[in-house]
Amino acid sequence: MAEERAQWTSRVGFILAAAGSAVGLGNIWRFSYAAGTEGGGAFILIYLAAAVFIGYPLLVSEISIGRATRKNPIGAFRTLAPNAPWWLVGAIGVLTAFVILSYYSVVAGWAFAYTFESLRGLYQPSVDHAEHFTKHISDPVAPILWHAAFMAITIGVIAMGVVKGIQRVVQVLMPLLFLLAIVIMIRSITLPGAGEGIAFILTPDFSEVTPLTVLHAVAQAFFTISLGMGAMITYGSYLRKKDPIPSSAGTIIGLDTFVAIIAGFAIFPAVFAFGFDPAAGPGLAFITLPGVFTEMPLGAVFGFLFFLLLTIAALTSSISLLEVVVAWLKDEHKWKRTKAAVVVGCAMFAIGVLPSLGYSVLSHVQAFEMNILDLYDWFATSILLPLGGLLTIIFAGYVWGARKLSEEANEGTGKLRFGPGMGFMFLVKVVVPLAVLAVLIAGLYEKFAA
Ligand code: PHE
Repeated sequence: MAEERAQWTSRVGFILAAAGSAVGLGNIWRFSYAAGTEGGGAFILIYLAAAVFIGYPLLVSEISIGRATRKNPIGAFRTLAPNAPWWLVGAIGVLTAFVILSYYSVVAGWAFAYTFESLRGLYQPSVDHAEHFTKHISDPVAPILWHAAFMAITIGVIAMGVVKGIQRVVQVLMPLLFLLAIVIMIRSITLPGAGEGIAFILTPDFSEVTPLTVLHAVAQAFFTISLGMGAMITYGSYLRKKDPIPSSAGTIIGLDTFVAIIAGFAIFPAVFAFGFDPAAGPGLAFITLPGVFTEMPLGAVFGFLFFLLLTIAALTSSISLLEVVVAWLKDEHKWKRTKAAVVVGCAMFAIGVLPSLGYSVLSHVQAFEMNILDLYDWFATSILLPLGGLLTIIFAGYVWGARKLSEEANEGTGKLRFGPGMGFMFLVKVVVPLAVLAVLIAGLYEKFAA
């Protein structure tokens, strides 16, 4: 007897799961260093436009494709277009999940390790945090063990199931995450000298903005909203018909943006108050912030809370990445959930050993001036996500079509509705495809021609 497919038991459960997927290392680690190097408030404004005009239509489309078919990404495209190779778009998504989670778990492992180190006197004036971080990541063994531990927790949650695993975990962790973010922000903006950091976020500096900034802001929108690789198709496939899609998608993007901005207000005032460099790059969260916690009253407590926040945010995202592949094996190949979670999680762990070693024994492996982790990240976020997003939006707007897309999106109790001829469909059919195509081309140009 076929077992019934899982469904979120409430609208809030879905929103928290999807927001959990969206809110992750991207909001705190990636967003803060991108904003820090690319004009502060100016980057944030461009990102907001990208989230509304590109992220939102794509998110509505992905959730609708998932709910209409109740399938994993590969099965979803195959169901809607049985006689054409559109299922390959789903296959790109499955591949992307492998690439992203393998290195995502490595960075999450660093955060996990720092959470514990925060409890063991990391924030001493005698510690040089740049040196400490370099030492941490260039150890060939310890970061791999943290990566394994983080992956094991991810596997554990997914093995417990959609409702008993994912939904239960996000319903506890997401409110905790919002709370932690707000506590840390309040601490940061009340530090003496915080004003400069607040101004950095609120006064956009467009002199730092180049066409590449726009490219990076759009790529950031894809990554942070978990678009272009089937995670939102998968989560949408567990959504009840009576729940509204247009307003839920708005709430998901709103929560995701809220956490990114809060993280900005938590990070930059403290960075400025203690005279650190906001443009420190990827090391911002792991080098600059521990320096800040060292200077700050009760820094050890806030340092611990910050890295706990980062680890929780990463976990609620990593489970959505693993679920994409597990849903595919379960739906299409009848694997048991537990077996799929363990096998896929272990494979992703193994693929992630390489980027971890890229800071130690494999540090000589470089391409285009990137180490293995940066290479994985570049391939996933500059190539695979925009490619998946471009094909998905073309599929939604032209193959599945505006009429069916709007029918599915409008089903449910919400008041917000899209007609097949309205402005929303203009975004789906024209604005998003053109913008994402431009991003894809610009991303390739940036690496290969510039
Ligand atoms: N949105 C997550 C973040 O911001 C990353 C992610 C990308 C998760 C794609 C799932 C799918 O960290």
